[in-house]
Amino acid sequence: MKIISVINLKGGVAKTTTAVSLAELLAEGDRRRKRKGSRVLLFDNDKQGNTSRMFGVYNGEREAEACRIIKTGRITGNIRDTKEENLDIVPCNYFMELAELEIKADKEHAQHDRYKSALHEVSGQYDYCIIDNPPDLGMNVINAMVATHEIIIPVRLDAYSLDGLEELVEQINQIRALNPKARIGGVLITDFEKSDTSEAAERWLRTKSGCHVFQCKIRHSKKAKDATFYRQTPTHYSVRSGAAQDYKAFTEEYVQKFGHLAAEERR
Ligand SMILES: Nc1ncnc2c1ncn2[C@@H]1O[C@H](COP(=O)(O)OP(=O)(O)O)[C@@H](O)[C@H]1O
Ligand SMILES: [Mg+2]
Repeated sequence: MKIISVINLKGGVAKTTTAVSLAELLAEGDRRRKRKGSRVLLFDNDKQGNTSRMFGVYNGEREAEACRIIKTGRITGNIRDTKEENLDIVPCNYFMELAELEIKADKEHAQHDRYKSALHEVSGQYDYCIIDNPPDLGMNVINAMVATHEIIIPVRLDAYSLDGLEELVEQINQIRALNPKARIGGVLITDFEKSDTSEAAERWLRTKSGCHVFQCKIRHSKKAKDATFYRQTPTHYSVRSGAAQDYKAFTEEYVQKFGHLAAEERR
């Protein structure tokens, strides 16, 4: 099972939209390209629970499954089905804040590798685990980074000034320092609208940042925004929208480039 973290320390850059779209499209496969659906575990690691809400498994009343995993280091019993074939989910909610405090107080056991050992339990059952992260470096994000093989960084170019982009590259290195073995899969340009500034920012990213930037970028599309309102993924809400089409192309680009699992990821 390959573990992919979708991460960026800024909010509103389409981390959740990217994580759910990639998970759903990997699980679905692509008949035209004869790509079979993969077995995917989508891990909601954000206490806001937006990913969980999109799959109808959000419950704010009691401790969510992700919180139990970080507290115990065990995943059995903490995975929920979705309506989608090949796609399971670990839900999250605001109890994550309490869980983090609780494990920080636990000085006897290591705190940073609980996701890693938990995910190891199910590594034979899935091809991919995709973790949707919050925009901070809390203990749950550290746990995700320690477990992760590969990082995908969504960026919305208008969320950054050109200086901000340099800062982004520094942050990527900071995130990477938590697990130097994790590979940067790449930066994905999301919610893209053509303008002089967005094109200049794209050019800088592609030529000066030193990061791999995916060829596909995700267009801004009103339907993707509306999808959030109805708590649906862009692909489900409107498969013909620009964003849904672009996520499909991005998933195929991803599979072409990184779809072959390395030996340690197959375990
Ligand atoms: N391609 C897109 N076109 C239009 N709106 C988008 C697009 N991608 C994301 N959004 C909207 O931007 C907002 C933030 O996206 P989200 O995935 O929740 O970001 P994050 O998880 O990084 O906070 C949401 O309202 C979402 O619907
Ligand atoms: Mg989010």
